[in-house]
Amino acid sequence: MQPLVKKIKERVNIVDIIGSFIKVDRSGINHKACCPFHHEKTPSFFVSEQRQTFNCFGCGVKGDVVEFVKLYEHLDFKDALRYVFDKSGLPESDWQQNQERSSQDIKADLDKKEAQDIFEKVVNIYHEYILHKDNGNILLYLTNRGLKIETINIWKIGYSPNTWQFIETKINSTLLEKVGIVKSKDGKRYDFFRDRIIFPIFDIQGHAIAISARIVDQGEPKYLNSPDTILFNKSETLYGLDKAKEGIRKFKYAILVEGQMDLLLCHQEGFNNTVATSGTALTDKHLQMLRRYTNNLMLLYDADKAGLNATVKAWSLALKYGFEVKTAVMPEGEDPASLLLKDKKKFMQIMKNATHVIDFVISQSDNKSRISTKTSLEKIIPLIASLESSIDKEFFSKKTAEFFELSLDNINTELQKFSQSEYRYLDTIDRTIDKNESHDKTKYAVIDKALAEFKSLVYIYNQQLNTQVKHSESQTFDSDTTQKIDSYINEYKASDLFKLQQEYIPDLNSVFDTIDVIDEHIIFNFENIYTQKKVDLDFYKQEVDISYKNFVQKIYTMIYQEIQNKLKKAEIIKDTNLIHKYTQDINILWQNLKK
Ligand code: CTP
Ligand code: MN
Repeated sequence: MQPLVKKIKERVNIVDIIGSFIKVDRSGINHKACCPFHHEKTPSFFVSEQRQTFNCFGCGVKGDVVEFVKLYEHLDFKDALRYVFDKSGLPESDWQQNQERSSQDIKADLDKKEAQDIFEKVVNIYHEYILHKDNGNILLYLTNRGLKIETINIWKIGYSPNTWQFIETKINSTLLEKVGIVKSKDGKRYDFFRDRIIFPIFDIQGHAIAISARIVDQGEPKYLNSPDTILFNKSETLYGLDKAKEGIRKFKYAILVEGQMDLLLCHQEGFNNTVATSGTALTDKHLQMLRRYTNNLMLLYDADKAGLNATVKAWSLALKYGFEVKTAVMPEGEDPASLLLKDKKKFMQIMKNATHVIDFVISQSDNKSRISTKTSLEKIIPLIASLESSIDKEFFSKKTAEFFELSLDNINTELQKFSQSEYRYLDTIDRTIDKNESHDKTKYAVIDKALAEFKSLVYIYNQQLNTQVKHSESQTFDSDTTQKIDSYINEYKASDLFKLQQEYIPDLNSVFDTIDVIDEHIIFNFENIYTQKKVDLDFYKQEVDISYKNFVQKIYTMIYQEIQNKLKKAEIIKDTNLIHKYTQDINILWQNLKK
């Protein structure tokens, strides 16, 4: 943290400053309020005096006092900081001194500017190359899929040839690696994108910052996407928003699609209020960005099972931000791109008939089998529960009861069960993971998450132990917490399980190196659930142990799967030595689990 920021934050109290904008009430060890950043009637916005932070469980906004002022007053960082500075009573000279920017900051800015220029060059090279006479087949593929040359030009679509050093020979810069265009292995540098159709991704100002690259015709993986870089953060980028801004304002709603091709055809055919998430699930950040332009959203996802799930998830998330959401149901086997090409009239008809998401879920269910009724209801009940209007609630409850041939009482009981379900925090872990699921979920995300839960619980436990609450201004765990965590981790590292993990999943070790940054969201969540329940210290200790076990259990599962896979292979090749070894290791695992 900048020294001045730190100094300012030591002198102001976030509760007072937020309290000067909105009404906040004490709640347990924290304060709560109705969130000023999304529409709600019951408070889910919490402020921690201890950590000097805020967090909203409804819409996910969080941060420190400067962040709050920035968002609430629509200021940039510097102006927000100035606002808080004025409340801090620090002398003007402190502000002036800070105005001289550090040479590091200046260098970072220059790097970014240079990276941007290089990225633009790369995109232009790929784009020119698609128009090269050798690449008629690539152009033909795209035009066969309905793209006009004009569209290819507007969106700077390109082609990367099937060679290892195409960009390398044209541009000489170390930044190529930093922006994800070039990779290196064993000291050798090579192009990341080869023999692919290049779709540049633009930021909101229209600068190309990343690439989503499709294989020509068929093969795996279908899309190869830029990693997050100094230019690109995929959870904050919406493909097409730079060109859709105007259209969204004009039509007063935004269309959300999943695929590049869907987006391009929508724009080409006049639906220039379309945006797409590219290669990732819809995030809070995406919605916050869209919310600046409209509060009407039309979801236009594929008609398959993945599309249905994505629709339900997007709908619930969008609801939190106060969007009015409709969803248009594609005919089976079609996606927006294919339908637009085949039958534009029908496409428009479908948009006109767009429905509420609950209707959509119902229309996608069959009411015959018990299992499918159950899985549909698991989706529908939370959706009904989240409806604000009691009229809507009744309407959809009745409709659901009718469709599934159940009594209304039954639906109401389920609804009640859902809203009353006060589960132990750990029961929610898997749901949270599911919510964050996306194409690029890392292999160890489940374990990462369990570890974060465990660490947070140790932190909370410690807070309860130290009756004298420390006013922490840092975003990392205190040394006491770190020590406790370490002692657990050392216990794990002394176990047989660890030996097996070293052998079967050695790269999992990196999980243990993650820095101990406080995960505000998890901690607020614990505080809300527990500190109001007046539970004793033993309870916290117990939760710590449970979460530790849960973490170890997740590792156990992963090792088990790994050995099972190997065992299967060994069985196929009938290698008795290996079969013996793997069986033995599974036994050791079992022994360990019993402990
Ligand atoms: N996607 C991805 N990685 C994959 C598959 C898909 O990142 N392996 C992303 C891409 O952004 C893609 C979107 O998910 O555009 C939707 O996937 P899909 O419907 O399969 O792709 P389309 O764009 O519809 O591709 P096409 O119609 O050319 O098959
Ligand atoms: Mn598609």
